Amino acid sequence: MRIKDIRSLAAVQGPARSVAERLSRRCYSVEDMRKLAARRLPGSVFDYIEGGGEDEVSLRRNRTSFDDWAFLPKWGSVEHLKLGSTLLGGPVAMPLTLSPTGGTRLFHPDGETAVARAAFEAGIPYGLAHLSTTTMEHVSAAAPGLRRWFNLEPTADKGLLQAVLDRVSNAGYEALVVNVDCRAIGHRERDYRNGFTAPPSIKPKTVIEGALHPRWALGFLANDAIAFPNLDAEIPEGPLSSTPDMWRTLLAGQYEPTDWDDLRDLRTRWNGPIILKGVVNPRDAVMAADLGIDAIQVSNHGGRQLDHMASALDVLPEIVEATAGRVEIIVDGGIRRGSDVVKALALGADACSIGRPYLYGLAAAGQAGVAHVLKLLAAEMTRTMMLLGVSTIQELRDEGRDLIRHRSEANTCTLPTEFPPAQYSASQSPAAELAYSDTRIP
Ligand SMILES: Cc1cc2nc3c(=O)[nH]c(=O)nc-3n(C[C@H](O)[C@H](O)[C@H](O)COP(=O)(O)O)c2cc1C
Repeated sequence: MRIKDIRSLAAVQGPARSVAERLSRRCYSVEDMRKLAARRLPGSVFDYIEGGGEDEVSLRRNRTSFDDWAFLPKWGSVEHLKLGSTLLGGPVAMPLTLSPTGGTRLFHPDGETAVARAAFEAGIPYGLAHLSTTTMEHVSAAAPGLRRWFNLEPTADKGLLQAVLDRVSNAGYEALVVNVDCRAIGHRERDYRNGFTAPPSIKPKTVIEGALHPRWALGFLANDAIAFPNLDAEIPEGPLSSTPDMWRTLLAGQYEPTDWDDLRDLRTRWNGPIILKGVVNPRDAVMAADLGIDAIQVSNHGGRQLDHMASALDVLPEIVEATAGRVEIIVDGGIRRGSDVVKALALGADACSIGRPYLYGLAAAGQAGVAHVLKLLAAEMTRTMMLLGVSTIQELRDEGRDLIRHRSEANTCTLPTEFPPAQYSASQSPAAELAYSDTRIP
């Protein structure tokens, strides 16, 4: 038998011709990409992405609350399925945005520019962190057609604030993302235990970690030092910019937490859309709507700030009801599957947003990695909608509440016909017992 014949029998796969092809053979889910990122990054850097505040209850809740909702698909034809939608008056190829993440070049030397290009190709907006490691202008030049938003850290100095807003506007950012969840920095104990600082300081452990992750170490050493260049014009030279733990120092010093008056003032200074990020209290959502805020991002900051916080999904139905369509609603925290996005939209969100998933892609394979994560999520959304029986995002939002049920709602099920009413009362039937035990699992 000749080699050619063996090949035709064994269907031998040749080597992948591109990073994208390699990823499509190895990564079938965001979780696969997460594992790849964990291998590429030093443990302390990976933990910086992964970690949450204190006991990480908020972080875990972000995942479990998605599992508490189950689909009730409807039967019927699904034709011309489309993920396209609109957000803040502009088109999006799917109802997803990329959330701001500070320090992005720590994970891959191409950092924010790689993320911006992948977001542009996928047709979705990207929120650049004020504490990005690439300037806002550089990101604009790298992806001029991208719908880009800026995650402003408002300062108490109104002159400086106006200068920053003018700069953001001149660099083509259409919307501001303003946090209402950062009055203090969450206590991320993994970072303290790991001795992690931003930018990383050189310690014996750093050298060992670098040697064990040579690809990351080479990228890190061969490129510009990790810094926050958007701040160069804002922070005078001095002790602040040379503090090893400059991130925390900056946030605790120069940048003031906002209150409602600051937001009122910001509303008058910025003509474009404002997204309030970190709203979970329906009262605040209504205040935001009253103030003329365009959108809220319901979020517990990926579980990185206050621990024991409600997840976005826990409070979404209440917020949807309280705001009655007066603000657009974006949901983030724990989204790892297209089906998670479908659940949030079925409950009334306009779009979802992700942080860690795109950072896994970036750490694993730069722009191609981010693109692969977005491709996976789009394919999962499409498949979920097809199986659920909806063709468009509008249909999902209109009919969604009939297609999804929380585990606590299980008791409201009508009895299946196979249990004749003469034999079982509602409280005795096997179905009722099942529902009963299901909602009381500790
Ligand atoms: C490494 C990292 C850095 C972050 N930096 C910021 C930031 O600068 N500003 C901000 O509003 N949110 C920041 N976040 C939170 C995200 O914007 C987003 O709310 C969160 O990651 C969503 O949860 P997910 O990671 O489970 O998708 C950061 C998150 C991570 C993982």
